Amino acid sequence: MVMSWTEGDSAHFIDEGKYFVPEREAQIATICAAVPPLAGAGHIVELCSGEGLLTRALLERFPEATLHAFDGSPKMLEATRRTAGDLAARLETQRFDLAAGDWRALGFEAHAVASSLAVHHLDGVGKRALFQDIFAMLAPGGVFVLADLVEPAREGGEVIAAEAWDEAVKARALQLDGDLKAFERFQAESWNYYSDPEPDPVDQPSPLFDMLKWLEQAGFAGIDVHYLKAGHAILSGMRA
Ligand SMILES: C[S@@+](CC[C@H](N)C(=O)[O-])C[C@H]1O[C@@H](n2cnc3c(N)ncnc32)[C@H](O)[C@@H]1O
Repeated sequence: MVMSWTEGDSAHFIDEGKYFVPEREAQIATICAAVPPLAGAGHIVELCSGEGLLTRALLERFPEATLHAFDGSPKMLEATRRTAGDLAARLETQRFDLAAGDWRALGFEAHAVASSLAVHHLDGVGKRALFQDIFAMLAPGGVFVLADLVEPAREGGEVIAAEAWDEAVKARALQLDGDLKAFERFQAESWNYYSDPEPDPVDQPSPLFDMLKWLEQAGFAGIDVHYLKAGHAILSGMRA
């Protein structure tokens, strides 16, 4: 599997995610709220489940659903299973490469496909193709909910996003630890994509407006943006 994300990245993200992801609980709640109610059993797919916090929230909100969590990192899949805990009987985990095509014929119709903070590892062409393939995975009435970084569309947007992200991490560090050490690590590692003069080429966010157009071109209806802060957006579209 060719993946530039390493097991070291996974361990680091598990340690720092609670500080570095703005309003993490609010984002998870928003993603869950964007998935329509499910009458009875059904399938929910999560792409790049990471530590499994969204996985767990979806399992709790949809008590009869089977959750199919995909990730490229064995460490993350292990963490997903751990986080699912007592709900793991309804969890299927699978290692995959997000960019590859081999996993995209699921063998079932999904009520929802969700993903948080991973699709920006694909370039624009890759995202566009992914949106088309996700549309084909959904049952009628099913939704795709995407939480991800977005690329500012014109000059000045970076500064707005960068400052808001710094403020979110500072607030979180103070809330959790009563000091700014986590924010100092965030700065020292140039984690803030929007103020990093040389962002890691693995990060390829696209402009929000482009992503909305790609959703429309893929056939999605009811396309909406539910959250936007510090360059982090949550958008969704439905297969009518
Ligand atoms: C920034 S973390 C986000 C994790 C989780 N979704 C969250 O929001 O906390 C990115 C996740 O994407 C996975 N990932 C990155 N590139 C991938 C790829 N090409 N194929 C599969 N998984 C990938 C990583 O293993 C990691 O779990």
